[in-house]
Amino acid sequence: MIISFLNQKGGVGKTTLAVNVAASLANRGERVLLIDADKQGSASAWAALRQDTPFQVVSLARANMAKDALKMSSDYSYTVIDGPPHAEEIARSCIIASDFVALPIEPSGLSTWASDLTVRQVREAQEYKEMLKCGFVVSRKIGKTVIGREIRDMAAAADIPVLSTEIEQRVGFAESMTMGQTIFEWAPKSAAAREIEKLTKEIERHVEEDIRIGSKAKTANG
Ligand SMILES: Nc1ncnc2c1ncn2[C@@H]1O[C@H](COP(=O)(O)OP(=O)(O)OP(=O)(O)O)[C@@H](O)[C@H]1O
Ligand SMILES: [Mg+2]
Repeated sequence: MIISFLNQKGGVGKTTLAVNVAASLANRGERVLLIDADKQGSASAWAALRQDTPFQVVSLARANMAKDALKMSSDYSYTVIDGPPHAEEIARSCIIASDFVALPIEPSGLSTWASDLTVRQVREAQEYKEMLKCGFVVSRKIGKTVIGREIRDMAAAADIPVLSTEIEQRVGFAESMTMGQTIFEWAPKSAAAREIEKLTKEIERHVEEDIRIGSKAKTANG
């Protein structure tokens, strides 16, 4: 399963979520690969703060990285891609390689998502790759911000569900990343750690649901 975290906008939590979702999967004893597809190298810099990492980290920030990403991922149960903060060719490659594109978005971004280039790229890719799933992940949510029903409905109608798991703005996320730790090492019993567990499971559910529907459709078609 290949999950990428993508949004052309900077600072929405791509790297934070990619590292911690990878950690959540590795905690189960799965073989996990984290691909740093951002030239800034934030995920690689995080890994460099440590002796060893709970999952493999490789840097692959090339326009045509999809093929290599797919080849590498075959040795792992899960591959997580940390995407770049732009919608250039690398971003398209990340999308092509993915089973699920998670679009971290701050609550304020949900009012204007329809015009986002990343969203457009995902939809374009879906025309060729029917099984490609995606979803917005509300990220860096402050306090009691409520994501309105109408926003969820609009996104769902466009086939981009807003996942029910919301990631709040929590100092533990920033601190752990600065210290080269995962949220599970830094604050294992925290609400932040629980949010990541929940997000990981929700993403998996979305992908698996589609595999089931896909195989049913195949059976129905003989
Ligand atoms: N849920 C959160 N709570 C608190 N701080 C957060 C949270 N998510 C991200 N941050 C902080 O916000 C900053 C940007 O986060 P991050 O690097 O994960 O975003 P990004 O989308 O990967 O950015 P870029 O576009 O530059 O790659 C970092 O300092 C990070 O520690
Ligand atoms: Mg980043």
